[in-house]
Amino acid sequence: MKKIAFVVILLMFSALVLAACGSSGGGGEAQESRPTPPPEYAGKTSPYTTNDANAVAAGKTIYEQRCTSCHGEKGLGDGPAGQALDPHPGNLAELVKVAKDDYMFWRISEGGAMAPFNSSMPAQKGILTEDEIWQVITYIKTFK
Ligand code: HEC
Repeated sequence: MKKIAFVVILLMFSALVLAACGSSGGGGEAQESRPTPPPEYAGKTSPYTTNDANAVAAGKTIYEQRCTSCHGEKGLGDGPAGQALDPHPGNLAELVKVAKDDYMFWRISEGGAMAPFNSSMPAQKGILTEDEIWQVITYIKTFK
């Protein structure tokens, strides 16, 4: 009888653990509480991996020109122009651990001039090509 009670408790405990993993994304694959990209961005994936040295190098140049001032050299949100911003620039080093390609592509393309973000993150669409946006995403993934 005792053994059965133990098994029941064990099963209940595993169910709890599973439920907790489900809601927190189970190992960081989900977007935490970030909104899902709109249909025109949803499901987009990068043509590059961080093993692609050319893409990383091209992304680094773009990042240093267009992103460091706010996001900081290592993406920690500590760039000189980012300090006083409210909302504050995101921590990209943390973001790349949890966010999917489509979320990052959307946010960099469209920037923060929309709900729920309402931030000074500048839209890069029309300034950077799609390819360049993927390169900069490839570079920020190296902050992991
Ligand atoms: C003028 C300052 C500024 C510049 C320049 C800037 N950003 Fe941002 N960025 C922000 C702010 C502020 C936020 C946080 C608010 C938000 O999510 O919109 C942000 C948010 C983001 C996010 C979403 C972060 C999250 O946690 O969801 C990404 C990705 C991002 N920036 C990438 C970039 C990249 C790549 C560049 C360069 C091409 C860049 N940003 C240039 C200010 C800036």
